[in-house]
Amino acid sequence: MSRETKEGLVLIIDDEETIRDGCRQALEKSGYVVMTTEDGTEGIKIAREKRPELVFVDLNLPGMSGLEVIDILLEDIPHIVLVVITGYASIVSAVESMKRGAYDYLPKPFTPDQLRAVTKRGLEHHNLKIEAEMLRDAQEKMTKDFITFVSHEMRSPLVAVQQSIEALKVLAGDCLSDEANDIIGRCEKRIRNLEDLVEHWLDIRQIEEGTLIREKGILDLSTVIMRSIEDMEPLCEKREITLVRDIPKDLPMITGDGESLVRVFVNIIGNATKYTPAGGRISVHAGYDDHYVSATVSDTGRGIPKDKIPFIFEPFYRVKEKGEQLEGSGLGLTFCKRIMDAHNAKIAVLSEEGGGTTFTLRFPR
Ligand SMILES: Nc1ncnc2c1ncn2[C@@H]1O[C@H](COP(=O)(O)OP(=O)(O)O)[C@@H](O)[C@H]1O
Ligand SMILES: [Mg+2]
Repeated sequence: MSRETKEGLVLIIDDEETIRDGCRQALEKSGYVVMTTEDGTEGIKIAREKRPELVFVDLNLPGMSGLEVIDILLEDIPHIVLVVITGYASIVSAVESMKRGAYDYLPKPFTPDQLRAVTKRGLEHHNLKIEAEMLRDAQEKMTKDFITFVSHEMRSPLVAVQQSIEALKVLAGDCLSDEANDIIGRCEKRIRNLEDLVEHWLDIRQIEEGTLIREKGILDLSTVIMRSIEDMEPLCEKREITLVRDIPKDLPMITGDGESLVRVFVNIIGNATKYTPAGGRISVHAGYDDHYVSATVSDTGRGIPKDKIPFIFEPFYRVKEKGEQLEGSGLGLTFCKRIMDAHNAKIAVLSEEGGGTTFTLRFPR
């Protein structure tokens, strides 16, 4: 990705030659670097490559519509600022484009001074956007560093408490009442949950810092899946859930870290067992096409409400049902998503409340 200049790279997408030339002259006079094109598709190509700070888009382009161009640019290029050029004072389409995320509009005909004023404002807005994001990032990092610090500090006391409970049990021998044993059992469970939380969090931080996945090699996804299934089979049996698999023998190889991918599958299958009632079924499939090797894990469990789906990969997010007894950190899927990101792989979910859930994991070949 090349950049001509640090400040004030402007792209003009308009099919009228006089407008393109006029804008170029007016803006170059003020020291901006200007690129022009008459065509939406070409404009997107230039923008992807050159990363302008500001783009003027004519709404009435032949072929691809200006609105489409706006959608794609806003999605593809972070921080880009868009100004629409509207013909015949068409305020309706200007409003529509602002709704979609354009920053401003410039009705035809306009003077060079008006153009320069809008450009200056647009570029200032661009810088503000970047500053705001830097502030947000810094704040987020502070929060994360704090949680990491606390997690580290909790590790040894947790081990110490667990060991003390063990010692207590040995000391007491058989002389504890059922009630006392019950209380101890609950303490141990809570400690385990807290340990899971701490370990998951520390893992996620390691992934973010790029230190968890060190060993990437060529590997066979079916081996990864089979190892995870072996891990999870006893739990499924205990919970009376049928676990079926359909994994072709000739899966193409992928590149990755086997250990972390096993943990991804264990998490996903683990969730399926957790959120599927006894008598249910979990199916694990794998397959491939010319570009991807993919796996799906489907269950017949309680499903996820539609409005909650967008959040399930966020740290600490859990869907809690009324009176729910299930415990969790809300970090399992965050962990999976980060590992998948580190493999350039995708994780997606299809689910319906009460109608089961399917997670799809897709790896580039
Ligand atoms: N197979 C599934 N069926 C139903 N809900 C699920 C399933 N997998 C994940 N979820 C939902 O996504 C949320 C986040 O999952 P996760 O990050 O693993 O956290 P946790 O399992 O600790 O709650 C869960 O609280 C649950 O509501
Ligand atoms: Mg989980």
